[in-house]
Amino acid sequence: MATASERSWAVFPAGSPGEYNLPRELTIVLARGEGATVWDTDGRAFTDFTMGWGSVLLGHAHPATVQAVRRRAALGSNFAYLTDAALELAEELSRAVPCAERLRFCASGTEATGYAVRLARAHTGRSRVLKFEGAYHGANAVGTVSLFPRRLLAFPRGEPTSAGVTADAVSDVLVAPYNDLAATGAILAAHRDQVAAVIVEPLHRCTPPRPGFLTGLRELMSELGMLLIFDETVTGFRLAYGGAQEYYGVRPDLATLGKALGGGYPLGVVAGRADVLDLVREDRLGEDRYVWFASSVGGNPVSATAALATLAELRRPETYPRLFALGQALRSGLVSVLKEEGVAAQVQGDGPLAAVVFTDREVVDYRTAFDSDRERARAFLLGLFRRGIFLNPMSTKLYLSLAHTEEDVGRFLDTARMTLREDCLGR
Ligand SMILES: Cc1ncc(COP(=O)(O)O)c(C=O)c1O
Repeated sequence: MATASERSWAVFPAGSPGEYNLPRELTIVLARGEGATVWDTDGRAFTDFTMGWGSVLLGHAHPATVQAVRRRAALGSNFAYLTDAALELAEELSRAVPCAERLRFCASGTEATGYAVRLARAHTGRSRVLKFEGAYHGANAVGTVSLFPRRLLAFPRGEPTSAGVTADAVSDVLVAPYNDLAATGAILAAHRDQVAAVIVEPLHRCTPPRPGFLTGLRELMSELGMLLIFDETVTGFRLAYGGAQEYYGVRPDLATLGKALGGGYPLGVVAGRADVLDLVREDRLGEDRYVWFASSVGGNPVSATAALATLAELRRPETYPRLFALGQALRSGLVSVLKEEGVAAQVQGDGPLAAVVFTDREVVDYRTAFDSDRERARAFLLGLFRRGIFLNPMSTKLYLSLAHTEEDVGRFLDTARMTLREDCLGR
């Protein structure tokens, strides 16, 4: 009889429904999760350090979410219309997120960033958007241009990471080095009549902003009449209840939310200035600047209920100190292990996020990480996976949750040490 892994390779490209790039012999099929543990269909347990790519911040099958969703699902899953749950969620988001004068729901981060960019273009009447090299903003054109560029073209030229994106769509994206305000300012000044917005992940993957970088961007945007979009798909509700805009004290014109907010259920949000969001009002259909923004399942009552249950847990006073303490323990533990094993690497991240880059250089943007030892990174991540740490071997980003314990972090660090010795250093 075919194994679950053989069956998955028969129907999914490379055996996976998403971007995971696991070798055939490591392909597993998950059956369930609880807290910070997941089990495959053979009953093998893994400690999860990806947590649904950061969408499950409370831990898998958190009782508060499970009970709320169970009750709500019995009342009807979707009406593609306003429900009490969506209204209550919108009210809570407008209290929580500083820039959220208005908001609109969709079903994923990719949709949210796509709509935010469309809104900025409509608002300004300009077509180009500036992003930072190496940033991911979802699977759309803006998100994938210069996501993993190989040729390191002169800024601001972008390199498509995905085929199937038209040349026009690529040239509509200007690319700048993250953390370099002077270079960004020069690119924007040279294209000032063409650029609608800058889209930035305030914590760029796991690379923190240099002091003054985000404030500087904010000032530039206001000066040049462009919109500042914070992609808070990852940072929202993770760095602080009000996201990166609360954490760094910088207010964007638009922000996108997803992942953690939905508690693992499909949910995306564009939040921001009323004059920009109001371009989606259906009574404006036919006006030049009217923006089509529609989603059959966006803001459905089951996702909204899961989000409300998630937010209620996150509002507890102990949440963020706990998430930050866990993240700090993981990062400082990794620094020690790498040092003790004599491996040159940078440990990045903030809050409950961490990443390892195998280089002796300080990493401040994509290019300072470009020469890192990627073969070693892959061997490290696959070695962790083989030893029972569930993660995405396509990236070194590690996601913690409220369900993780000091023991989980300790297990990760012990496994990391063993993997470095046996798989990376050949000891
Ligand atoms: C910063 C950022 N923006 C957008 C997205 C896309 O979100 P989704 O996978 O929900 O479409 C991701 C997903 O990893 C992300 O990390």
